[in-house]
Parts: sequence; C-alpha cells; structure tokens
Amino acid sequence: QRDGTAREDDKQRQLDGFRVGAEGATLTTDQGVPVAHDDDSLKAGERGPTLMEDFQLREKLTHFDHERIPERVVHARGAGAYGYFELYDSLAEYTRASLFTKTGVRTPVFVRFSTVGGSRGSADTVRDVRGFAVKFYTDEGNFDLVGNNMPVFFIQDGMKFPDFVHAVKPEPHNEIPQASSAHDTLWDFVWQQPETMHMMMWLMSDRAVPRSFRMMQGFGVHTFRLVDAQGRATFVKFHWLPRLGVHSLAWDEAQQVAGADPDFNRRDLWDSIEAGHFPEWELGLQLISEDEARALDVDLLDPTKLVPEERVPLRIVGRMVLDRNPENFFAETEQAAFHLGNLVPGIDVSEDPLLQARLFSYLDTQLIRLGGPNFAQIPVNRPVADVHNNQRDGYHQMRVHQGESSYERNTVGGGRPAQADPSVGYDSAPVNVEGTKLRRRAGSFSDHYTQAALFWRSMSEVEQEHIAAAFGFELGKVGRVEIREGVLEHIARVDTGLAERVGSWIGLKPPEAEPVGPLTASRALSQRHRPGDGSL
Ligand code: HEM
Repeated sequence: QRDGTAREDDKQRQLDGFRVGAEGATLTTDQGVPVAHDDDSLKAGERGPTLMEDFQLREKLTHFDHERIPERVVHARGAGAYGYFELYDSLAEYTRASLFTKTGVRTPVFVRFSTVGGSRGSADTVRDVRGFAVKFYTDEGNFDLVGNNMPVFFIQDGMKFPDFVHAVKPEPHNEIPQASSAHDTLWDFVWQQPETMHMMMWLMSDRAVPRSFRMMQGFGVHTFRLVDAQGRATFVKFHWLPRLGVHSLAWDEAQQVAGADPDFNRRDLWDSIEAGHFPEWELGLQLISEDEARALDVDLLDPTKLVPEERVPLRIVGRMVLDRNPENFFAETEQAAFHLGNLVPGIDVSEDPLLQARLFSYLDTQLIRLGGPNFAQIPVNRPVADVHNNQRDGYHQMRVHQGESSYERNTVGGGRPAQADPSVGYDSAPVNVEGTKLRRRAGSFSDHYTQAALFWRSMSEVEQEHIAAAFGFELGKVGRVEIREGVLEHIARVDTGLAERVGSWIGLKPPEAEPVGPLTASRALSQRHRPGDGSL
C-alpha cells in the first residue's frame, strides 16, 4: 500500500489481475492446446462408438460434471456488489481500527444481500429475513460485518440454530414449502421456543418483504466491542441506514412479482448500479460503555433484544456506496465467504452465545462449500492487505511460497508476530470471565414478550393490519390445531388485540392472557425511519 491505507480502487486493481476475457482468442483445452474441432467426439468409424482416448471430450465433460458446488446451507440465494465505505466521523477515542479512524478514506467493500430460507433458484420477494453481509477490505485485513435487515434474531443460543433452520426450511419428507414460513414445522418451533416472538413480529411485518435491497436497513444484530489502543472496550451495535429510506412491497404485490419476475430484487440492484444510481447507506453506531450497559433493562448479550434508540441514539459515522457490479456471479458472489471471525485490530466480539456459535460455523461450512482451507485466496475473498503466514499446502493452493521456513518462531525467515509493536497486531480485548461451567440459559434472557409488544405498539394502524393479516395467512396454513392455539397464546401475551385479530383470521378464540409490561417507550422504534419516510 502506498501509505498503508486501503483505497477504494485497490480491490478492483487486485481483481483485474485475475480477470480473463476470450475475445478474439482461439479455443483451447485446459492445457492450452488449440482445439481444431469442438462439435463431435472422436469415434471408431463415422457411426461407430466414441473412443476412450478422446481426451478432449473427457476433459470437457469432466469439468462440466463438476461445475456445481454446494449452495450455502442458509442464505443460498443472494446478489452482491462492490463499492466503498467512507468514514466522516473518527471513532479514534473508541477504537484503533484504521477503518474507523481515518476520515475521508474510502475502504473498498463487497456486499452480498440474500434471502435466508430459499434455495439458490427461489424467488426474491418471499416473506423472509434478508442477509446484509459486508466485507471491508481494510489495510489491516478483512473485516466482515455479517448482518441482517432486522435488528434481532429468532434464537438466543447457537445450540438451537440447526433446530431452527430445520424447522424453517422445507419439510424433509416432501420438500414443501419452498421459501415460505407457512407450514407446521416453523410454527411448531415458535410455539415451543417463545424467544422467537420478537423476531416473529418483525418477520410478519412489512420489513420481511423489502421493495429493494437499496431500501433496507442493515443490522449487525449482536453486540460487538470497539477497542482502543489501551485495550479499553466499548460495546457497539452496528446499523446501516438506506439513503432511499425503508420501503416494502405490499403482500399481494410481492406475490405477483414473485411470479412475474422472481429476480426482482436482484435485477433492481444490478440495474440501478448499471444506470449509475448507486445505492447508499449511512453507518450508525450505538456506543455503550460497560456502566451504561449495566443500567439498561436489556441484556446486551441477548440477540433477541434491541437497544431502543431513545435510550442510546445512533451516532452516524460514515457512508457506504455500491458502485460496481461483479463481472462473474459464480466467481465473485457465489464464492464470497463472510465470517464473523474476520475481525481487525480495534474490533472484537462479545459473549453473546449466538455470536459465539457463529464464530465456529462460518469457517466450518466454507471448508466444505469452497473445497478446503485455501478459499481466502479466491479473488473476491483476498484481503488487499499483505498476507504472510505459515499456512501451507492444501487443496487449491494458489501461492508459490518462497524460502525454507514455514514455522514460528524462526530465525531463518520472516513472519514474526507483531507483539513487539502493540499498535500493529490483533489482540482480544481483556475481558473478565469467571463462573461455574454450566449448560443453562441466562436468567437475564427470559423476557420474550416486552420488546415484541414494544414493536407492535410502535407500528401505525396500516402496519398493524399487515402484521395481523400476515400471522393470519401463515398460521392459516398450519394443519395441526394445537400448534395454532399454542402460537396464539404467545401472541396474546404480546397483545390481546393482535391475538383477537389473528384469531378471527384462523377461526380460533384467543386465550385469556395478561399482556406484559412495562411499555412506556411506545414509539421507541420510530427513529428507525428516516425523516420523511412514510413507510415501514
Ligand atoms: C450465512 C450459520 C446466525 C447472517 C450463514 C451460513 C452459515 C450460517 C453456515 C452459510 C455461510 C456460507 O456458506 O458461506 C449461522 C449460525 C447462526 C447464524 C450457526 C447462529 C448460531 C445468523 C445471524 C445473522 C446471520 C444472527 C445475522 C446477524 C448470515 C448472513 C449469511 C449467513 C448474512 C450470508 C452470508 C453471505 O452472503 O454469504 N450463516 N448463522 N446468521 N448468515 Fe448465519
């Protein structure tokens, strides 16, 4: 790097080194041998059988036979774009991350938006959460912010993630329904696991049918830490705010669009970038000291809770612009590998048990999805920062390492840790940990209804009507009556009026249930809307 700073176009320059075009070129085999004839296999006689010796045919078919890699186990369908992040408010008092301290610098990014439940070929406009994953190619290495378009999540502990995903995905016996939340297993899970209720309110809201990726908020969901040069940590929650405001499709509209153009959101992203209407978001942070965290009535480690912006306002620190489409969907968007553990000095994780499980899962799944331990060398995943390590060999090794040493400590080569200069290397924030080893949910995670009710009360009448109708539609597809009743009971704990409305959709009388309180901050979510933005 010229002055140690990653620049907007550094990633493009790096990618250019990998691009290949075929214009005007002669067709060759994989070995570079010019091909004379590509229409017919080699046969014994004009109408005879094809010969085993036809290396040209075998090579072509073998490669074709191996063109598919596994789709992501979740978030299989997505679309991506490149751009940059520009900081305008330095966070030097909180973090040493150059990304958040050098104002005016444009750090290159790659962003992938996705649906969660559907397969790679499913429709865009289904009712679902949207992934919002950002890879920052900083001069100190890659930082990935792997978030969603909703600020909370369904479960509190990674132990439940496989169960949750099995319940959401198509049922295993008949693979129905594809990309829909209208089926018994999802609602059975919800009924049994009421920590899902807050997120289910978001999922039944219009946020789950975004009009455009350009019009979605993004959230890091978990609490992270910013760490300064002295090792002092501040809790942080990340928010992306779309310049165009937050806009959704109406449910009927989404149904029609899914049929007329299943690529609706993907096409919109592509077309707007091609047309020069570059999507843009501002980055807002909620910064919370340890003392402030203790005074909050939510546990920051619980990913089913948000911190109301009335309590901790957003500090807007920069903007992200997406200004370039990938040139090859498979090479770039499909092979992109995001991971919560891709952290840079000055940014650290928290003890949120969902986050902790994710730290294992992404690298683990990518080892199989991308065929071994060298996927960080795939062009889209390569840092623009220099890489010197002692990782050697393995499938798809693209580097030709020089020299005799691939171990540390060594006196014969380079690659020593930066511990001699604490301003360079990554170090975890010093955090006090003590207690008894146990497999148990924290008591502070036990209120599953207050924020769900807060969300409900922050909605306008139209938005409430949409939520009630969505619950009615989705639960109406549930066959087992005890599941419908069980979910309705949870809904009644959120709001009896909502339960009445949903009950009338599905022909059930809601049970008597005490709504939970306190509900003082009745419009605590209102600041999530940008000024002048009338829709949810
Ligand atoms: C993708 C696991 C929770 C956001 C994935 C993938 C796995 C996974 C295995 C596929 C990755 C790949 O093949 O490259 C988990 C586990 C979770 C969890 C075990 C909980 C313990 C979450 C949460 C969020 C989230 C809470 C949002 C804050 C995403 C996104 C992607 C993804 C955006 C797609 C990344 C891309 O575009 O390639 N997750 N996930 N996940 N996950 Fe999670």
